Amino acid sequence: MPHHPAMTRRGILKAGAAVLATSIVKPSFAAGEPLKIGLIIPLTGPFASTGKQIEAACRLYMRRNGDTVGGRKVELIVKDDTGVAPETTKRLAQELVVQDKVNALAGFGLTPLALAAAPIATQSKTPMIVMAAATSIITSKSPYIVRSGFTLPQVTWPIAEWAPKNKIKSAVTIVTDYAPGIDAEKTFVSRFKAAGGNVLESLRVPLRNPDYAPFLQRAKDAKPDALFVFVPSGEGSALMKQFNDRGLKQAGIRMIGTGDVVDDDLLESMGEVAVGVVTSFHYSAAHDSPENKAYVDAFMKANHVRPNFHSVGGYDGMHLIYEAFRKAGANADGDKIVEAMKGMKWTSPRGPMTIDAATRDPIQTVYIRRVEMVDGKPWSIEFAKFENVKDPGV
Ligand code: PHB
Repeated sequence: MPHHPAMTRRGILKAGAAVLATSIVKPSFAAGEPLKIGLIIPLTGPFASTGKQIEAACRLYMRRNGDTVGGRKVELIVKDDTGVAPETTKRLAQELVVQDKVNALAGFGLTPLALAAAPIATQSKTPMIVMAAATSIITSKSPYIVRSGFTLPQVTWPIAEWAPKNKIKSAVTIVTDYAPGIDAEKTFVSRFKAAGGNVLESLRVPLRNPDYAPFLQRAKDAKPDALFVFVPSGEGSALMKQFNDRGLKQAGIRMIGTGDVVDDDLLESMGEVAVGVVTSFHYSAAHDSPENKAYVDAFMKANHVRPNFHSVGGYDGMHLIYEAFRKAGANADGDKIVEAMKGMKWTSPRGPMTIDAATRDPIQTVYIRRVEMVDGKPWSIEFAKFENVKDPGV
């Protein structure tokens, strides 16, 4: 009978030590444990529509693609950070990492909230998928941030180039006075001027409790060909109402902007006043592709509202997480997951999508769209496009 080491006392001790060592170095995410995604979004307050769109899209992704990856059940842990309260977002990110031991953080409805959570991602080496916040600098704040939405400079410059070629020679800019608004203003002003346009005035409206009326009156008095606007999603209806009430449209002043102002979540309720607004953006619920038709149908069936651009940020963010864990292995650590996300390419409901390996920002098509009535309802209809657009920075 061969002498088996496990039969000796030393052998038994050695075997015991090996078991012990294995249990110490064992990754905290053993096979079979759920793969946890901590989703931090505003579900109450003025930006609740952002959170509702993102959560609905994440749940739709899981329904359409299954709720397991590499044998691990995917668990979504949803936290409401209530809107613009960076300290709350940071605390929630910390709790999700330390107590829930999430494998990825995701969501982030506004720039100040993404910036507040960035150090937590870095310290804990947790991948952080920014689905909504869109200021250019965000991905530079942590090597663990990957963005699935868009950046403001990326979606702003195409309309600045389009406008002077389409009878818009002068403009007044109105943006919300915080980082993404400043990104939009700077990008529009420099690109519009370079393309031969003249900026008459640049106005900034407060983020909290904005009153658009005095700004729109001032813009009207300047008599520009067009008003360039950026407001964060959720604000479009209030701005559009004042644009109408102040008679800017009637005075022949056109509205152009990034697509945030004609957010698909609100567009239907804006009605006629939005017709003719031209914007550049990466997503319209009216995007004509089989992937988008299936997406919009499924989303509307489940939620009874149109999906907006934040929803595709959420949907594609889930795709990134699923595919990265598939590619790197279901028990891979944060560094390997971020590596796996770099350079990833797929067809999204919005069109072709790539994660820039250098910046971890999306490279995507930006469309020029005009609001038109189709079957009695306003939609942003795409009519021109700029392909493979990267974040140009500001
Ligand atoms: C942002 O805070 O980065 C943000 C929020 C909503 C938008 C765009 C940007 O529509």
